[in-house]
Amino acid sequence: MDAPLEHTDDSRIAKASTVASETVKDQSSGRILYSRDSRETVGETFVDNPRMSCRNVDVYYDDKHAIKNVSLDIGRNQVIAMIGPSGCGKSTILRCLNRMNDTIDICRVSGEILLDGVNIYDRHIDVVPLRARVGMVFQKPNPFPKSIYDNVAYGPRIHGLAQNKAEMDELVETSLRKAGLWEEVKDRLDQPGTGLSGGQQQRLCIARTIAVSPEVILMDEPCSALDPIATSIIEDLIDELKQQFSIAIVTHSMQQASRVSQRTAYFHLGDLIEVGETAQIFTNPRHQLTQDYITGRFG
Ligand SMILES: Nc1ncnc2c1ncn2[C@@H]1O[C@H](COP(=O)(O)OP(=O)(O)OP(=O)(O)O)[C@@H](O)[C@H]1O
Ligand SMILES: [Mg+2]
Repeated sequence: MDAPLEHTDDSRIAKASTVASETVKDQSSGRILYSRDSRETVGETFVDNPRMSCRNVDVYYDDKHAIKNVSLDIGRNQVIAMIGPSGCGKSTILRCLNRMNDTIDICRVSGEILLDGVNIYDRHIDVVPLRARVGMVFQKPNPFPKSIYDNVAYGPRIHGLAQNKAEMDELVETSLRKAGLWEEVKDRLDQPGTGLSGGQQQRLCIARTIAVSPEVILMDEPCSALDPIATSIIEDLIDELKQQFSIAIVTHSMQQASRVSQRTAYFHLGDLIEVGETAQIFTNPRHQLTQDYITGRFG
């Protein structure tokens, strides 16, 4: 009655897939994966000593449920990539992290989002300093119609971070250096930021963000308007910036996610499907939907 030894593994797998209806055996690899119907987040949602923590976050635009009960930690001094098909909620969850969604009338956010243990949605939280602590870099570089110098000095002025001109000069220079732009602009700081190339403008926006010493930098497809050379400069920069900051980056490029991030979160129709170490997500996903996406079957 006992099955021959060489069949034991197969029968165990078959049993697993009937007992736990949430799992299936992947035909091509033979691995057991969470099935497409399963919506529980798979993987390491939490990290030790997180910089930010999302707990049971739901986001609605009117009655559109854009983020569904998402819990996720953002680690210190590391990059987390948010990936997934268009419309899955990547920008929405990113905007929750510095309350940019507050600017959208029909948007409602519930659940908790903690920055260093404090809920940023508490009533007494002022969003202006919050957005300095959690800065954002957008898809399309958006320098202010001001000089290169004033683009970087803008935030420090608002937040009173420099006592005098010499201190401001130093802050502007340090920020432009960290953003890898100083050498290219040091002789034309009084010229308009909008006169720079796309890649330079994006680095200017990064300099502007880091000038106010944020703890977290949110980047929503920061390279999608850039050529491969400018993209590679920004990617190198992200790698350096993570020494000092926590970074969450939304990207449509899986190559970019692999290159720059240590953790990756895969979203699908508002659900956080899987999160884990980037190498694991791309080589050994545990959910069928993640596998579909990374192998190009979806999205
Ligand atoms: N301002 C808004 N008003 C109404 N619905 C919105 C708004 N912004 C986003 N949505 C909806 O919320 C869902 C998630 O959108 P979101 O922009 O977060 O997706 P995304 O993953 O960033 O997509 P993409 O890759 O195309 O940028 C989508 O269904 C979208 O239509
Ligand atoms: Mg988006």
